[in-house]
Amino acid sequence: MRSPRFVVPVVVLLVAACGAPAAGQQVKAPDGALVGVTMPTTTSQRWISDGENIKRDLESRGHRVDLQYAQNDVPTQVKQIEDQIAKGAKLLIVASVDGSALTTPLQHAADARIPVIAYDRLLRGSPNVDYYATFENFRVGVYQAESLLTGLGLRAADGGPGAESGPFNVELFAGSADDNNSVFFFNGAMSVLKPYLDDGKLVVRSGQTDFQAVTTLRWDGETARKRMEEILGTTYKRSKVNGVLSPYDGISLGVLTALQAGGYGPKFPIVTGQDAELGSVKSILADQQYSTIYKDTRELATATASMAEAVLKDRTPPQLNNLNDYNNGVKVVPAFLLNPVSVDKTNYHKVLVESGYYSDDQLR
Ligand code: GAL
Repeated sequence: MRSPRFVVPVVVLLVAACGAPAAGQQVKAPDGALVGVTMPTTTSQRWISDGENIKRDLESRGHRVDLQYAQNDVPTQVKQIEDQIAKGAKLLIVASVDGSALTTPLQHAADARIPVIAYDRLLRGSPNVDYYATFENFRVGVYQAESLLTGLGLRAADGGPGAESGPFNVELFAGSADDNNSVFFFNGAMSVLKPYLDDGKLVVRSGQTDFQAVTTLRWDGETARKRMEEILGTTYKRSKVNGVLSPYDGISLGVLTALQAGGYGPKFPIVTGQDAELGSVKSILADQQYSTIYKDTRELATATASMAEAVLKDRTPPQLNNLNDYNNGVKVVPAFLLNPVSVDKTNYHKVLVESGYYSDDQLR
C-alpha cells in the first residue's frame, strides 16, 4: 500500500511491473538514512525504553536516528518534528503528545515526501500518516474492566460468574482526552462494565461516567490524585469506594495516594492500571494496586523499526494486520496491532519475569 504522495521513480514501476524488485534495489532512502523519532515524555519509563529500543534497532540496521522527547509540551514536539524535517530525515516515527496537534508539521513532512509512522498513539486529523503501530487498544480496556470485576469478585478468574453479587461502588478514570487511545481504552472497559452498571451491581456514586468527565489531562498522576481526593471528600463521607477503573499505572499511583490519604489500607479498593511500570508491579506485589496491563514495548519497537525499514525501501510493511479500525478523521490508517496481557499477582512471574521484562531482583 504505497501512499499516493510518495514519488515513485519510473524504474520502480518497471521493476514492480516485472515482479519483485531486483535484489538490493533501493528506491527511496540509501542505507544510513536519518530517521526522526519523537516521543512524548521521559516522565514514564515506558517512553524512555520505547525510544531507546527503536533507536538501537534502527541503528543496528545501519540507519541514523534523531531521538527527541517533548516533555508533554505540544509546541516543543512541533519544533522537534520541524527540526527533523530540516535535518533531512527520510522517515518520521511519532508518538504524539496531542494526537490532533501535529497537522502542520505532518503537512511539511508530506511536502518534503517524508513518510510518517504513528507510534502507539494515532495521529489524527491529517492525511499525512502512512502507518500505525500499536496494541489492541480496545482489548486493553476490556482487560482492565474484566480485572476490576475479578478483583471485586463479580467475575471468576476463568471468566465465569464470581462469588459476589455486589452492589459495589466504583469510580472511573480515563486517560488524556487528546490521546486517541484513551477513547479506545474507555470504550473497551465500558463494553464490559455497562451491564453491571445497568443492573446495579456496580454503582458510580460520583455520577461521573461520561468519557469527558473522567479524563485525565496528559495522563498526569497528580491530576488523578486531586480528582480522587475530591470524589472521596464529597461522595464517600459515609460509604466506601470498592474499586477504581484506572487506565494507566501513573494514574493508579495517584489514585492510591489519594486513597491512602483518605484512610484506606492496608486492604485497598481494586485499582487497575496499564504499562506494568516497575513501581506499579511492586505495588501489586505489596497488595496495593490490583492489576496492570502489560504491553511488551520491546516488541512494538522492533516491529516499528522493521516497518520503518520496509517503508524506507518503499515497500508495504508486511506486518500490517488491521486495515479498518483506525480512522483518524481523514483516513483509515493501516495498522499493526500487538496483543496486550492482563497481569495481576497470580501471573506476574510468568508474564513479566519469565519473559525477561523484569528480573526477580528488580521486583524485590
Ligand atoms: C497511552 C499508552 C499507554 C500509556 C499512556 C500514558 O497512549 O498507550 O500505554 O503509556 O499513554 O503514557
